[in-house]
Amino acid sequence: MSEFSSLTVSGLNCYYGKAHILKDISLTVSRSEVLCILGRNGAGKTTTLKAIMGLVRPRSGVISLDGVDLTRVPAHKLFSYGLSYVPQGRRLFPDLTVEENLRISPLVRRGNQEVIREVWEIFPVLKERMRQKAGTLSGGEQQMLAIARALCMKPKFLLMDEPTEGLMPLLVSRVLESIGSLKARGLGILLVEQRIDAAFKVADRVLIMENGRIAHETTPQQLYANAEVLLKYLGIKR
Ligand SMILES: Nc1ncnc2c1ncn2[C@@H]1O[C@H](COP(=O)(O)OP(=O)(O)OP(=O)(O)O)[C@@H](O)[C@H]1O
Ligand SMILES: [Mg+2]
Repeated sequence: MSEFSSLTVSGLNCYYGKAHILKDISLTVSRSEVLCILGRNGAGKTTTLKAIMGLVRPRSGVISLDGVDLTRVPAHKLFSYGLSYVPQGRRLFPDLTVEENLRISPLVRRGNQEVIREVWEIFPVLKERMRQKAGTLSGGEQQMLAIARALCMKPKFLLMDEPTEGLMPLLVSRVLESIGSLKARGLGILLVEQRIDAAFKVADRVLIMENGRIAHETTPQQLYANAEVLLKYLGIKR
């Protein structure tokens, strides 16, 4: 079921109460690709990921994998289609150990050792800290655990909401490296970021959101060279 090659969102509109938050969002992420969504606070980035993950119900629009409609598939079933999500702010269980946080994945609970071996390979530091409570990990380690937990669902498409938030530069690089290696393993990654340098380092394509719309679509190379767009949509002077 999970050998789909692309995740597509078309014409997505979402509301919180009467507020029209997402306006006609369309995008496609392919396997072995990193699509990065940039945009100011409140632009609608998190809401876009939540809508794809079935956590916010769209008023209209379609979410699909190679034409298979997922729009009404409940959130807890999406992992069986190969979708996994690293929410903004990590959302770990602080009083559970590293290992127990990973055991929340049904695949790991069912004794799939390969999944957990892969995670230890990508994040050796987590293996060393297997029995430590998640709440006592450093910020960077917690972020790795949040990513690791999503990987325990063996996703083909991974949605990540600001995975580098609050991390020191060295750990930002570690997280970005791990995104690169997941892409090399064939995952399609939809990465929401505030950090433009992250987009420059790992993205294949970039979407810029403004006020609930996709205002601009570009490549990291073009964006780097486009002072006007950087200033207009991201408030960055260079
Ligand atoms: N549960 C909610 N109820 C009402 N409004 C909400 C809710 N969640 C988000 N919003 C509003 O929707 C808009 C988009 O929010 P969203 O979290 O998607 O932005 P974002 O681009 O992820 O911002 P940030 O960069 O700050 O994380 C904001 O104006 C926000 O206040
Ligand atoms: Mg957000």
